[in-house]
Amino acid sequence: MVALARTQSFAYDAETSAFAADVITGLSAQRKRVPPKYFYDEKGSELFERITEQPEYYPTRCEMSILREQGADIAKLIAPGAALTEFGSGSNQKARILLAAAPQLAVYVPVDICGPMVEQEAAELAPDFPALKVLPVAADFTQTFALPQEAADAPARVGFFPGSTIGNLEPHEAASFLRNAAKTLGSGARMIIGADLVKDSETLNAAYNDAAGFTEKFNLNLLTRINRELGGTFDLSTFEHHAFYNRERQRIEMHLASTRRQKVKAAGETFEFRAGETIHTENSYKHTPDSLAALARGVGWEPAGVWTDAERRFSIQAFSLPKTAKV
Ligand code: TRP
Repeated sequence: MVALARTQSFAYDAETSAFAADVITGLSAQRKRVPPKYFYDEKGSELFERITEQPEYYPTRCEMSILREQGADIAKLIAPGAALTEFGSGSNQKARILLAAAPQLAVYVPVDICGPMVEQEAAELAPDFPALKVLPVAADFTQTFALPQEAADAPARVGFFPGSTIGNLEPHEAASFLRNAAKTLGSGARMIIGADLVKDSETLNAAYNDAAGFTEKFNLNLLTRINRELGGTFDLSTFEHHAFYNRERQRIEMHLASTRRQKVKAAGETFEFRAGETIHTENSYKHTPDSLAALARGVGWEPAGVWTDAERRFSIQAFSLPKTAKV
């Protein structure tokens, strides 16, 4: 019985094995960490939706209002008959606003790693834009991928990367994403990116420490997932959500801090925590128009426009790839 249980508990499927390997590597490191992609199980995705509705969490509302109020101006970057490719499309709610503001678009390509979801969301959107060809693609948007033929053949290509997701990538990963997007979209392409802006620490800290506690629940849910999927023994009452703005590095850091010295098992290994030791779970880099432009220029994209809300909390920034660019 015991032997059988042991064998079974390690007979992980491929996805769980990758999770186990990442957790073992991350928790064995000098500074403990777990990659942020593991936040998004079903519960995590649901909690994330709730975060975006909290009064302190301004980015989602801010970005949607910029798209709504200045969409017509932003849409001038989009040539007649163009194809819009959204990197990490999720629920499409921001794309809907841009699509409504840019009726000249002929093709919309939502791209998401989650195949069933990208199909489902595309099927729900299509009837609302009858003149648009909606061609979903299941792919990891941080890599290069092939566009559907109609998008590749369209007279112009525009990328869309909202949600300040660029801020969740390390600067070298953001550069590599933009380099790959250039390869996917081709020379002459344009890119429309939503990026959260550098601002006072109070506003930033409040956004990632909502009073209702959804960000805290979202962060702690990672330990629940490790307990469930990797036979973890994390006692959630001994870990605290820590989120703070690191001004020197222009980023919000999210951590889970152990309130005491303890040993925890996960994925068949034992990990020791000192009192106060943290697991670093996510960064959210904040930008200025200059810092994002510098990053984009480094991989061949030229600044083509910046739109912000009146309080300059959030930005939509556009870039273009010269027609002569080698990608
Ligand atoms: N990209 C957004 C941001 O950094 C949304 C986000 C990603 C987020 N992970 C998060 C928000 C974790 C709160 C907590 O703000």
